[in-house]
Amino acid sequence: MEFILVTPQARPAVALIQLNRPKELNALNLQLMQEIRDALKALDEDDAVRVVVITGNERAFAAGADIKQMAGKTAIDMLITDQFSTWDQIRKFRKPLIGAVSGFALGGGCELAMTCDMLVASETAQFGQPEIRIGTMPGAGGTQRLTRAVGKAKAMEMVLTGEFISAQEAHRVGLVNRVVPVGQYLEEAYRLAASIAAMSPVAARLAKESVNRSFETHLDEGLHFERKNFYLTFASEDQKEGMAAFVEKRKPEFKGR
Ligand code: CAA
Repeated sequence: MEFILVTPQARPAVALIQLNRPKELNALNLQLMQEIRDALKALDEDDAVRVVVITGNERAFAAGADIKQMAGKTAIDMLITDQFSTWDQIRKFRKPLIGAVSGFALGGGCELAMTCDMLVASETAQFGQPEIRIGTMPGAGGTQRLTRAVGKAKAMEMVLTGEFISAQEAHRVGLVNRVVPVGQYLEEAYRLAASIAAMSPVAARLAKESVNRSFETHLDEGLHFERKNFYLTFASEDQKEGMAAFVEKRKPEFKGR
């Protein structure tokens, strides 16, 4: 891996992916996105990993797709490369994915943050979809995920003016889960990750799948999907362990089976 660092056991059962193109503010070139995709695939298959945290550095989570790499391309180049198809595979990651965001999360950086299940932001984080300022528009989910997260009015304002919002505003409009001082954002993300890693991985996976389904379907089909997944948890040892532990007044020990 050239542009990311992967630590499978950054904390017990918690892996870390760190974007590592600091001079370019972690601009997302094709190779970097492919590396994230490959790393997530490996971590998805690693039973010792229950939750993944993805981060950049204090100055930038990521300042967007790599403008220099895209600048001279034709529409047909873009079509043939279809660089955003990599993102569909990232979206299919089955374990909880937490973004730890500091500094710039712009364009594709904001879109990458929004593919995470939860976000912890530092007080210095700034979110934006500034593509309009360079004569284009969001292409990796910005008009869709942002609108679902913050509503039409705010999404329109961000996409049409290109203006950034602060971490505090991102929190107020529901884009991020929590905002903490800059020295603590990664630790806070680990804390959140550890609390989820202590749960049943089977239940976490099915629950994540069910929440995501709510964005993709109507209520009746979503409720049906949820109910099937709920029933499916009863096939797991973790459900037996969890309920037995409650009855016996002890802490459950989930095995992911
Ligand atoms: N692509 C390529 N290089 C980038 C980049 C990007 N998205 N963002 C920053 N960089 C590079 C700069 O070119 C600069 O490199 P050099 O030192 O070689 O000149 C380096 O990172 C540092 O950046 P700045 O000197 O510009 O730093 P700054 O503090 O003055 O400004 C910034 C920071 C406001 C984030 C500014 O860099 C900026 O506006 N970046 C572009 C943001 C943007 O438009 N993102 C959207 C990209 S398109 C997209 O993402 C499409 C999509 O939907 C996926």
